[in-house]
Amino acid sequence: MSLFRRKDIAGLQAEVATDHSLKRALGPVNLVFLGIGAIIGAGIFVLTGQAAAAYAGPAIVWSFVLAGSACALAGLCYAEFSSMIPVAGSAYTYGYATLGEFVAWIIGWDLILEYLFAASTVAVGWSGYVVSFLKDIGINIPAEFTSAPYVHTTPPGAGWNVWRLFTEGWSSTGAVLNLPAMFIVAFITVLLIIGISESATFNNVIVVIKVTVVLLFIAFGLAYINRDNWVPFVPPAEGPGHFGWGGIVRGAGVIFFAYIGFDAVSTAAQEAKKPQRDMPIGILGSLAICTVLYIVVALVLTGIVKYTQLNVPDPIAVGVNAAGPGLAWLRPIVKIGAIAGLTSVILVMLLGQPRIFYTMSKDGLLPPVFSAVHPKFRTPWLASLLTGAFAMAMAGLLPIGLLGELVSIGTLLAFAIVCGGVLVLRYTDPDIARPFRTPLVPLVPAGGIAACAYLMFGLPPDTWARLIIWMAIGLAIYFLYGRRHSKVGQRAA
Ligand code: ALA
Repeated sequence: MSLFRRKDIAGLQAEVATDHSLKRALGPVNLVFLGIGAIIGAGIFVLTGQAAAAYAGPAIVWSFVLAGSACALAGLCYAEFSSMIPVAGSAYTYGYATLGEFVAWIIGWDLILEYLFAASTVAVGWSGYVVSFLKDIGINIPAEFTSAPYVHTTPPGAGWNVWRLFTEGWSSTGAVLNLPAMFIVAFITVLLIIGISESATFNNVIVVIKVTVVLLFIAFGLAYINRDNWVPFVPPAEGPGHFGWGGIVRGAGVIFFAYIGFDAVSTAAQEAKKPQRDMPIGILGSLAICTVLYIVVALVLTGIVKYTQLNVPDPIAVGVNAAGPGLAWLRPIVKIGAIAGLTSVILVMLLGQPRIFYTMSKDGLLPPVFSAVHPKFRTPWLASLLTGAFAMAMAGLLPIGLLGELVSIGTLLAFAIVCGGVLVLRYTDPDIARPFRTPLVPLVPAGGIAACAYLMFGLPPDTWARLIIWMAIGLAIYFLYGRRHSKVGQRAA
């Protein structure tokens, strides 16, 4: 039964009320901006094109609707939790308070796939845009230093053989490393260690820049739409997950990545002025704005360029190019906007991950190094350093598609568990104060679980194989370490 030992919600709520170590400076607008800062990034600027080219065609628009709906259901559940338990540990703490330690560990381990791997993924996207921007101004970085040395294709006949899917199918690209991607991770890690605190003003400026760029793309791109590019809107199926309805679902699983980040708002709960009211506004507001922007961008992009040409690292820039000389002025602006936007996503992800490590380490589930605070900079510097080093290695070595799908599957799992937590808690602790109540329980959380599971099943078997291996490593660590060192467990003993 100790697998299900829980943190006490009343205790957590009391902790929040008495803990004044973090400054409560963020109002609703800042929180919405924080969400948008973390959401708009590689998903829309990079993965959209690849998902359209490989999986869904112009029907990537439907993929955005589908993924956005799953996120809306999960977002409503996040809103309930984050207003009820406004602490920095986010989904990990919600899990600990509702479903018990074992599930909390799974979420925490899973959030690594979200935050740490997302930082690497976005860094690869950053690299694509920086290389292309530098090329425009006459600086060429040799190709062997701008992409991953390996690509992965599904080994034929592997079926659901997890081991074969994991170990076979790798081939060399001839490149050595993705140096720009490693550089940006290293740079931001150093900034975070020496204590640059993510400033709301800095984030707001970046958000204004990237949203303006997206709006410019929409406004000026509209005139260049060629409706022929939308025919057929849903290309006929060419095998499982490639076009047709299966392709829309797989596309949704892939571009689900684009929505990730609204949940990061919940990690700022302890810095919100009125978390009970403003957490739901921040989470749901940023999600709603981005959903609308994404659907329109996908329509415009696939209207300007034939989807078959979109399998590139910088699809929005390719869209602007395809529009012809009339939009040439927008090209550098799009690239600068994308680079700035991706930088803020990397920053938020690399800031969030050490906080989650920190909380897990304080709870005894990870070794104390993860909660070591630097005496001078007052940051969890070792956790940041380890996060940065790992994210850097992944960014340098792995292709963006593989990383992005892994982030998507990991986050979908975390969302499904959060939805499950809301549902369970309504029955186990019906009387706890819930400043924001998820509507239509049990429909919304159950729908959230179903939608997330559906998108997970749309993802390729290779991604599942990696998730299973990742979880197996996590379980080994939990049973060898976390379970024995758990603070909650020690208090109970
Ligand atoms: N949603 C974030 C992005 O697309 C992670 O970059």
